[in-house]
Amino acid sequence: MSARPTLPGGTWDLAGLTVTRFGYGAMQLAGPGVMGPPADRDGALAVLREVAELGITHLDTSGAYGPRVTNQLVREALHPYPDTLHVATKVGAVRDEHGGWPPARRPDDLRRAVDENLETLGLDVLDLVYLRLGDASGPRPGSVTEAFETLARLQEEGLVRHLGISNATAEQVAQARRIAPVAAVQNMYNLAHREDDDLIDTLAEEGVAYVPYFPLGGFTPLQSAALSEVAARRSATPVAVALAWLLRRSPNILLIPGTSSVAHLRENVTGAGLALSDDDVAALDRIGRRGEPARTGR
Ligand SMILES: NC(=O)c1ccc[n+]([C@@H]2O[C@H](COP(=O)([O-])OP(=O)(O)OC[C@H]3O[C@@H](n4cnc5c(N)ncnc54)[C@H](OP(=O)(O)O)[C@@H]3O)[C@@H](O)[C@H]2O)c1
Repeated sequence: MSARPTLPGGTWDLAGLTVTRFGYGAMQLAGPGVMGPPADRDGALAVLREVAELGITHLDTSGAYGPRVTNQLVREALHPYPDTLHVATKVGAVRDEHGGWPPARRPDDLRRAVDENLETLGLDVLDLVYLRLGDASGPRPGSVTEAFETLARLQEEGLVRHLGISNATAEQVAQARRIAPVAAVQNMYNLAHREDDDLIDTLAEEGVAYVPYFPLGGFTPLQSAALSEVAARRSATPVAVALAWLLRRSPNILLIPGTSSVAHLRENVTGAGLALSDDDVAALDRIGRRGEPARTGR
C-alpha cells in the first residue's frame, strides 16, 4: 500500500492518542434537523469510508445525532475500526419528539448514554467522551461538579479513555479540570465567532486540544466580504480559507468540519492546506474582532 500524504496540520497528541488535526464531524450525516436517517444513506456511508481512506484519525459523533443514527452509520461504515482511528462522542443531552436537545446530565443519564454509545458504536471503551453542556444558544453558567465527577467515575471503571467538555464557559472548563484531566474542549468558534480566543490560548499553553464546532458556520455558511476577498486573491474558496485560518490560529485547534459529500470532504482536505500570508491573516482577524460584521447561522 502506498503511503498517504500527510493531512494539513499534521497530528496532535491527545493525551497519548495521536489524532490528525484534520478530523471529521459526523453530525450532518443524520436527517434534517439532525433527526432520523439521512436521505442518501449510501452517500453517508461513502463519506465515512472516505474519511478513513484519506487517513483522518479523529471522528466526532454523538448518540444524540439522529438520535443514534450517526453512531450506527459510523459502525456500519468503519467497524472493525482501524487501531489508528479515534472516535469522540458526547453525552449530556438527549432528543425530544420535537427535535429539541433537552439536558440529561444526572448520573443515571450519563451512565446510560455512555452504555448506549458503546453499544451503538460497537466498542468496549470510548476514546473521548465530552460532557455537552449549555443549550442550542450556547454555554450557560452552572456547576459541572456532579456530572463531571460521574464521567470521571466511568473513566475509572475503564469505559472511557479521555474526558472532554463541550459548549462550556471558561469557568466550567476550569471547574472540570479541577475534577479530572480534560483532554479536549469543544465549543463554537470560527472566523466570525471568537469569544473563546483567550480560552484557546490558555489551553494551548497547557497542551489541551480545542475543537471548534461550526468551523464553517454550521447550518448557515460563513459570509463576510473580507473572507470573500482573501479567497478571491488566493484563488481559493471561502471554505478553504476558513479551515486554513483555523489550523494556523493555534496548534491545539483540531478541525472537525462536517459534510455529507465525498467531493466536499476531499475539497476541504486540500483547502485546509492553503498557506495564508500574514496579510491574509490580518484581514481575516478583523472579521471577528472589530469592524466588519460577519454572519453565521445557528
Ligand atoms: N458540541 C456541540 O454542541 C456541537 C454542535 C454542533 C456541531 N458539533 C460538531 O461539529 C461538527 C462540525 O459542525 P457542522 O458540521 O454542524 O458545521 P460546519 O462544519 O461548520 O459546516 C457544515 C456545513 O458546511 C457545508 N460544507 C462543508 N464542506 C463544504 C464545501 N467544501 N463546500 C460547500 N459547503 C461545504 C456542509 O454541507 P455539505 O453537506 O453539502 O457539504 C454543511 O452544511 C459537527 O459535525 C459535530 O460533530 C458539535
